[in-house]
Amino acid sequence: MDILELLRLATRAPSADNSQPWTFTQQADVLSCRYAHPGNFRDPFGPNGHASLLAAGALHENLDLITGGQVECRLDTGREDIPWELNIRPAGASSPSSALRGQMENRHTNRHPFARRLPGPLPDCQASPGVRIITCTESPRIHALGEALQLCSRARFNQPELHEWLFTSLRWNDDEIAAGDGLDINTLHLPPGGQHFMRWIKPWHRMEMLNRLGVDRMMSIADTVMVKQAPAVIALCGSDEAQDVWNAGRTLQRLWLGLNDAGLAVHPYYAVTDLGNRRKAGRLLPGWDASVQRGEEICADTLGLERGEQVHMLLRVGLARHEAVRARRRPAQRFLSADNRA
Ligand SMILES: Cc1cc2nc3c(=O)[nH]c(=O)nc-3n(C[C@H](O)[C@H](O)[C@H](O)COP(=O)(O)O)c2cc1C
Repeated sequence: MDILELLRLATRAPSADNSQPWTFTQQADVLSCRYAHPGNFRDPFGPNGHASLLAAGALHENLDLITGGQVECRLDTGREDIPWELNIRPAGASSPSSALRGQMENRHTNRHPFARRLPGPLPDCQASPGVRIITCTESPRIHALGEALQLCSRARFNQPELHEWLFTSLRWNDDEIAAGDGLDINTLHLPPGGQHFMRWIKPWHRMEMLNRLGVDRMMSIADTVMVKQAPAVIALCGSDEAQDVWNAGRTLQRLWLGLNDAGLAVHPYYAVTDLGNRRKAGRLLPGWDASVQRGEEICADTLGLERGEQVHMLLRVGLARHEAVRARRRPAQRFLSADNRA
């Protein structure tokens, strides 16, 4: 299979803030993939971070689907510099069917409102080992998950590190968007004037000042109201062991491909997981641990989590009312390490 076509399809996998933190190197007939952050925006996770492993798992799933299961995976988080590597032999892989190609190209995030009812049953998805898929369609449980998210979302708007991460990820104009990575501002669901407001709150000192007037609370309500009204929320859960997080990434991709293929829209929410992990690592600003912990506890009660289980991702799922602007990707060539570029 043509390498650039393989890269183009595989890197349609989702990643936090569309960072696409991967590089590929070709040696003889083997193509190897490792973690590499593009460097043009903040990387709050690093090679071993939870979000990096989830995204790498999703990329693994895509590569596995494209090559018919020919991916060799090494995961060893003890090696901090290169915790994982994926190896494939593109020459041995035949081109994927047009149906599979279409599914990969069609998988996307939709941050707009969804219809209040599901059109029918949700498609089945087989979870990878160590991962549980928990589907909630009852409004009290969905509402509780929305409350948990709101607590974590509010805490998020009070962390300068996360504020700066968001603002280095956002892409505002055509040139920035055309480069193909980061968060295209047009993919967000903002009210009229929302883009101007977002630009205005870019300096942390302004956001900090507005938070004293309750803007963090208002933004967390706006951020989570669509979750509370969703017809379904799906939680991916499991332990924080690296292999289980990786498998959650593979499951996330499989589930998302199936949902989009069935005509359903998907919007992921990572705040409970991310803020929870930051709390456990002692990285939240003073005063925010208790509300984040409360958010985690609400999730654990609502989802019936076992000891040692956490939420890896929450997905709002439903019938889209609006088409989403599709996030771009860097050109396939740019994923090849400098020595391999034509
Ligand atoms: C680990 C991870 C965390 C994410 N967190 C969020 C989130 O909290 N909110 C959100 O709207 N999208 C989130 N996303 C979705 C990404 O922003 C999205 O996949 C990326 O911008 C590419 O867009 P696409 O899914 O349309 O291809 C997350 C994705 C991953 C893999």
